[in-house]
Amino acid sequence: MTKIIKTVTELQTAVDGKRVGAVFTMGALHQGHAQLIKQCRETVGKDAIVVVTIFVNPTQFENNKDLEKYPRDLASDVEICEQNSADIVFAPTVDEIYPLKTLVKKIEPGEIANILEGASRPGHFAGVATVVNRLLEITKPSVTCFGEKDYQQLTIVREIVKELSIPVEVIGVETVRESDGLAMSSRNMRLSEEERALAPHLYDALNRVKAQLLENHPIEKAISSTIEWMADFPEIELDYLTVLSPSLGKPVPGLARVLVAARIGDVRLIDNIECELAVANV
Ligand code: PAF
Repeated sequence: MTKIIKTVTELQTAVDGKRVGAVFTMGALHQGHAQLIKQCRETVGKDAIVVVTIFVNPTQFENNKDLEKYPRDLASDVEICEQNSADIVFAPTVDEIYPLKTLVKKIEPGEIANILEGASRPGHFAGVATVVNRLLEITKPSVTCFGEKDYQQLTIVREIVKELSIPVEVIGVETVRESDGLAMSSRNMRLSEEERALAPHLYDALNRVKAQLLENHPIEKAISSTIEWMADFPEIELDYLTVLSPSLGKPVPGLARVLVAARIGDVRLIDNIECELAVANV
């Protein structure tokens, strides 16, 4: 039976002295989150406590409308946690997480927070890094799982954990996809039927770039020809399609990441896949 806890004090008492695995979410849970919980349990072991946090973090939203519109359904979230044998759902209020704003250490992730998603969402990753640091402080996990779907977020979390020497293993969990390739996301439910039909083209675009890299085309060529192909779908408003190193720096031969972001109607979608670069690509 999954226990719902709402206060920091109660949560800290429940995890005190125990081995903990933590999955941080903003709720609206789907199969992608279920996979994070499963992976967390598998890594941390059956005797450990798996905590899923559900907290719609105000400091990572640029405007209040988006914050207010964010889907909230605790009962359905708890059901998914229960099905995936989470022990605790921690669903605190804003005042629990930010009791006296000045007392919560603000984390500024640096340059990596200003590219890709950060370029169009100033302050977003400072909000994410600050709340993740606070949730790590509260839950004190040995293991925490983040989805590769939000690859930049995962990279930033890895960076702050390293920089601040936080003793936690950060596990990146592979993106869970619908049968047509669309990466699972709580935003998908905001797509109209027509928009939903177009959305898998983002995954197709990533795979097109990857296929051309495998044929030894230079990165610029692989990207420009994929952007040309995307012109057939003018409803997809591309923000970026790019290839970067696994730590989101300049790409070099070896493992790399293809990343895409686009707006379809009112909904901004992101996705990414791994690829391998040869000398001819860079
Ligand atoms: O990925 C999310 O849901 C959020 O950014 C996170 C990590 C829970 C921080 O609020």
